[in-house]
Amino acid sequence: MNNWLLTIKGLKTYFFTRWGVVKAVDDIDLRLGRGETLGLVGESGCGKSVTALSILQLVPRPRGRIVGGEIIFQGKNILELLDEQMRSIRGREIGMIFQEPMTSLNPVFNIGSQVLEALCAHKKFTKKEAKSKVIELLTSVGMPDAGKRIKDYPHQLSGGMRQRVMIAMSLAGDPTLLIADEPTTALDVTIQAQILALLQRLRQQRGLAMILITHDLGVIAQTADNVAVMYAGKVVEYTAVVTLFADPKHPYTVGLLSSVSERRPITGNVPNLLEEISGCPFHPRCPSVMKICRKQMPPFFALADGHQARCWLYG
Ligand SMILES: Nc1ncnc2c1ncn2[C@@H]1O[C@H](COP(=O)(O)OP(=O)(O)OP(=O)(O)O)[C@@H](O)[C@H]1O
Ligand code: SF4
Ligand SMILES: [Mg+2]
Repeated sequence: MNNWLLTIKGLKTYFFTRWGVVKAVDDIDLRLGRGETLGLVGESGCGKSVTALSILQLVPRPRGRIVGGEIIFQGKNILELLDEQMRSIRGREIGMIFQEPMTSLNPVFNIGSQVLEALCAHKKFTKKEAKSKVIELLTSVGMPDAGKRIKDYPHQLSGGMRQRVMIAMSLAGDPTLLIADEPTTALDVTIQAQILALLQRLRQQRGLAMILITHDLGVIAQTADNVAVMYAGKVVEYTAVVTLFADPKHPYTVGLLSSVSERRPITGNVPNLLEEISGCPFHPRCPSVMKICRKQMPPFFALADGHQARCWLYG
């Protein structure tokens, strides 16, 4: 028995499309301790959201399917649970902030009733109790004048305020783990900083563990304890956040970091996941490519202190 809150082993989530099989998540391993924040980073299309949806078992069916692996949450493989058991874990034990706030908030209901619905999905309240709970929850995520704002509709709120409502809804069941998918991407820089500060505060107050998904390394630097870098459906580097910035090992991570610091984008494009790439999926873009890279997929090589990289340079 270990202390991990969440352990993912060999997870594979594929989409069976008419053009072929998209291996969106292809054999990834991840782990997360209680109260820890794990950053999940990588370019668009590398499988970050599909990883999150897989944990919650919300991968769009029938096209998308988890075809392999285990997701152990609080000691149980949740992939073996019945739909009904999984429903009670969603929201109550694992909260989620989705990538598109406007698709998760219903435009025709006021925010008070939407937060109420999220609260009542987990616990029964009297009408009076419920109203004060909604106000309390919205206040706790920094919604000023929450008593009045509950009558507002999503379109009447700023992007930052909408994101606070989304966060409130994700916390309604008092989860142990919060998965936040690009929680600040649509926001301008000042509001972004406020939302990140809010997430940090909630994390400390509630002892929340968090998976924070972003393509923004700045967000990772500010919030994460450990980081998993994803590329083409695979985790290619895993380490403590400090090490990632001080001593990145995988050429893709090095490329991501210099694309920010030197404003020099990595040359080439992310691979089309419908096409089988032999060897290391980064080889067509890698400045350190070697002969073996084109032929054989590198395994994870252990470096110092839990630092791992999927790259032949360390074999
Ligand atoms: N419903 C779907 N049907 C077919 N393919 C899908 C579907 N959803 C995602 N994919 C594919 O799975 C891969 C991973 O997508 P995912 O949404 O996880 O990327 P992401 O890392 O979250 O990217 P972004 O930073 O743009 O949000 C992509 O190649 C995408 O095209
Ligand atoms: S395995 Fe080879 S191609 Fe892949 S990242 Fe490492 S050096 Fe580059
Ligand atoms: Mg995404």
